Amino acid sequence: MTVLVTGAAGFVGSHLCEALLDDGVDVLAVDSFTEFYRRELKEANIAGLRARDGFRFQELDLVTAPLAGLVEGVQTVYHLAGQPGVRGSWGDDFPIYLRRNVRTTQRLLEVLRSQTSTKLVYASSSSVYGDAECLPTSERVVPRPLSPYGVTKLAGEHLCELYRLGFGLPTASLRFFTVYGPRQRPDMAFARLVAAATAGLPFPLYGDGLQTRDFTYVADIVAALRAAAQSDFTGVANVGGGSRVCLLDVLDVVGELCGRPVRTVLRGPQRGDARHTSADTSVALFGFGYMPRTSLRDGLAAMVDLARRAPVVSAR
Ligand code: UGA
Repeated sequence: MTVLVTGAAGFVGSHLCEALLDDGVDVLAVDSFTEFYRRELKEANIAGLRARDGFRFQELDLVTAPLAGLVEGVQTVYHLAGQPGVRGSWGDDFPIYLRRNVRTTQRLLEVLRSQTSTKLVYASSSSVYGDAECLPTSERVVPRPLSPYGVTKLAGEHLCELYRLGFGLPTASLRFFTVYGPRQRPDMAFARLVAAATAGLPFPLYGDGLQTRDFTYVADIVAALRAAAQSDFTGVANVGGGSRVCLLDVLDVVGELCGRPVRTVLRGPQRGDARHTSADTSVALFGFGYMPRTSLRDGLAAMVDLARRAPVVSAR
């Protein structure tokens, strides 16, 4: 059995590849090493995978590379590649978001529409909801993104639905809610928080810290991706961490884990940030048996542990 993982050198992609290889699945991994963050960090993410049996890696751009050969014989495509980041998606960079989040998805779908034995699992985002009208939020709530990034992730999802309903291609779009864990992307809150706390430096706090998120541990996301791929589920499902926590409470937990309070420097609210997110995960539970298993404290402890053992790798 071979699967294709796009964005394999990224945070979620590298964890997914690891889990697949652990279970004897052959992985064709692709990544274009975009400049969103430093290449050496992504290289470090997959350094341990490169020598493993069953792992093949290709550096390529999904917008320009021929894709027919790439997906041939592949059972599942995990499409995680994209341009991330809610707050940075305003302004002149929008064509990059379109290219990497919409065009890549459309090209994969085009090549798969005559290969409907392959399932495509698409990494969508809680950012499609914006400030949702009710919490916890179910997939029935009308998405109203608050950022251009969210608009492109929603467009990718709509494309998956188009090809699913129009061509019978099995697709599953999973709306990830703020994923965290070791090797988290360096622009994200917990990566910065743990790096700052372990180094005794201040954490740049956006807004008042009372915003809440349904933070989801990366191993739970990996389990959801694999369960969605293996099940008959198609369509759209939320994947959340099981509880809604405010950022100030997270600071307290990290302070306790590090043995000293976390200092903050106030940076003001950021355009594009939702005030609250919270996932109703019933669709994922009934569709493919998803249940989050990692508590916020345990997940943060794993990040603090890595930061202490390998500060350079974790300080991104
Ligand atoms: C994250 C990812 O960055 C998106 O790519 C993803 O699509 C999204 O989750 C999602 O769930 O859909 P976000 O929730 O903003 O977006 O995740 P963080 O960067 O971890 O931010 C969490 C909170 O911490 C936000 O309120 C943010 O404003 C705040 N924050 C972030 C800070 O206070 N300081 C920072 O340095 C970074």
